[in-house]
Amino acid sequence: MFDNLLRRIKLLFGVGTVRKVEQDTIVVDFTEGELEKSIEFAQGYGLQVTPLADAKAVAIFNSGDRAQGIVIKVVDRRFTPRQQKPGEVSIYDYLGQFVALSSDGIEINSIKGIKFTSVEGVTFNQTITSDGNVRSNGGANTLNTHTHPDPQGGKTSAGSG
Ligand SMILES: [Fe+2]
Repeated sequence: MFDNLLRRIKLLFGVGTVRKVEQDTIVVDFTEGELEKSIEFAQGYGLQVTPLADAKAVAIFNSGDRAQGIVIKVVDRRFTPRQQKPGEVSIYDYLGQFVALSSDGIEINSIKGIKFTSVEGVTFNQTITSDGNVRSNGGANTLNTHTHPDPQGGKTSAGSG
């Protein structure tokens, strides 16, 4: 009786290895003695993640029934940021990209471009500093090399006005 109860309690939870991720399910390998299972991944509202194979999945099972499980957490220590201080938060991926909310401010790191798409424009309430050029009009104009009409005739180059 007690042994059976203990066994059922142990079956309530499972930690396994992610084998494959589908739309809303994850194929998880829990133990060597248990078949791989395709289990629903209960994502939290507002954040959608697609884990890589070999991440660890934590699942709970209804009444210990291993046929009725749901993955509640996926952990992948291979990519966990290591430099965070207490209280800090970040979103990160396997490529090294991240958005970090740290005690020094917010840092965004992309391995390619960063695209802003907005119906009503983008507003900054402070000076914008760039280590590179600034382009406008789809790239047709650049801050460093643009010209202005010269009232004396012709055009003047950037820096004169
Ligand atoms: Fe100008």
